[in-house]
Amino acid sequence: MEYTILVVDDDEDLCKILGKRLELMGYIVHTATCGRDAITVFRDIKPRIVLMDFMLPDINGLDLLKQMKREIPDTEVIIITGQADMELAIKSFQCDATDFVTKPLCRGNLEHALARAAQKILVRRRLQEYAENKSMREMVINELVNDDVLVIGADYRIMDINVSMLNKLGVTREAVIGRFCYEITHHQNIPCSGEDHPCPLIQSFSTKKPCQTTHVHLDKGKREIYYSISCYPTFENGQVTGAIELSRDITNELNNQKSLLQQSKLASIGLLAAGVAHEINNPLTTILTTALLIQEDIDPENPMYKELGIIASETLRCRKIVTALLDFARKNEPIKKEHNLKELIDEVVLLTRKQAAFKDVSVESECADDIGSIQMDKGQLQQALINLILNGIDSTDSGGKVMVCARIGPDSKDAEIEIRDTGKGIPREDLDKIFDPFYSNKKNGTGLGLAITSGIITQHDGIINVSSQLGQGSKFTIRLPLHQDISNGF
Ligand SMILES: Nc1ncnc2c1ncn2[C@@H]1O[C@H](COP(=O)(O)OP(=O)(O)OP(=O)(O)O)[C@@H](O)[C@H]1O
Ligand SMILES: [Mg+2]
Repeated sequence: MEYTILVVDDDEDLCKILGKRLELMGYIVHTATCGRDAITVFRDIKPRIVLMDFMLPDINGLDLLKQMKREIPDTEVIIITGQADMELAIKSFQCDATDFVTKPLCRGNLEHALARAAQKILVRRRLQEYAENKSMREMVINELVNDDVLVIGADYRIMDINVSMLNKLGVTREAVIGRFCYEITHHQNIPCSGEDHPCPLIQSFSTKKPCQTTHVHLDKGKREIYYSISCYPTFENGQVTGAIELSRDITNELNNQKSLLQQSKLASIGLLAAGVAHEINNPLTTILTTALLIQEDIDPENPMYKELGIIASETLRCRKIVTALLDFARKNEPIKKEHNLKELIDEVVLLTRKQAAFKDVSVESECADDIGSIQMDKGQLQQALINLILNGIDSTDSGGKVMVCARIGPDSKDAEIEIRDTGKGIPREDLDKIFDPFYSNKKNGTGLGLAITSGIITQHDGIINVSSQLGQGSKFTIRLPLHQDISNGF
């Protein structure tokens, strides 16, 4: 398909290289290296797709995205950034960005994002046709099987619903048609409103233009689920008669994006840390040795003797941090062998129980005997799980509990390990920071526990996610591929 693309990046060379590659893929390419030029070209050529760097010299990328969406809501905007920032990813999705790719751009990521944009353009075109020709209804709403589709009247009553959404809601078509959309989707008796649940219909009806928003819901396990909701108004004789609403669960996309961003962030910090830690290790050793040598030469009654002891012990503490940092940066390649997952969990629970007992916290596990095995570096996975359990114990008051549960994931290919605590929880604004090296709110914490854990999980081709409720506790979920023989069902 020959679409016009506008590439916006302040790096002129990148614009050129990307432009050439896109031209080879059959796109008509225009480029701009700042926000002001981007808007001029955008108004001039009305591109179907915009590939846009967030860090521009003259305008905030989010503002540029909003302006483009305001002027031509149908534009598919793919955000490119070198800065790993989850907040930015969520905000850009909330402003209806199509996708989010991180620098350095790899072919797979870019092609995936462009394919998504092409799919969305196709869907919009079909919806346009639908709005003009009602006989296409059946074909259109059931063709969009990946999204949930509702056809809603101007009075908020549901006129039609697709099979995918009926299956998810577990209700019959008869039970839904004619009811208010907010009754069925949100179990409430007034239209959605507020920051977490803005109603896209209201906006679509008043602007007569498509509109997009994101809703955050909590599932049964109190996990945050992000829904991307798009509304397309339908017309008869120029009057808005209702809207077609598409909704899609984008939680997995956001989580995958999050672990990708985390990986690139950790990689760059790791490189820097390795260099600095190495340089610091030698002078620290000199300080330590010198302090101990002087101490040997003086009388223990001398007041300097105690002070030299403090120098030595503080230097040792610094060395401990540097060693942990080198561990984190070096990222030892795991030496993997097949190990039973239940055995691993039983061992780490046993190892951490003593520490928990000091605080009168219990550590329990729940894992099926036949859960199967994983190709793992046992020492590394042990370390990862122990870090998570110890964090759980740290955050939990006397009488609390840390649970380690393992089960086979929904697609039977992965094992899901959950480490849950009844502790104080993590504030929402801190959730994106806790995996950063050196982020710690503990007096003696290095802040490297979760950074190392996340590195280990990634090296085992797994992913780690966290959800938390302040005052109620936190839950870390790890997904790891099961050993092939097991996942094939023998
Ligand atoms: N289960 C949890 N409950 C509440 N807060 C947590 C939990 N796990 C991690 N955190 C928060 O994340 C921060 C970073 O954790 P991380 O394990 O990386 O470092 P740390 O525990 O502070 O230090 P170290 O692991 O070296 O002892 C913690 O200081 C804490 O604020
Ligand atoms: Mg820790």
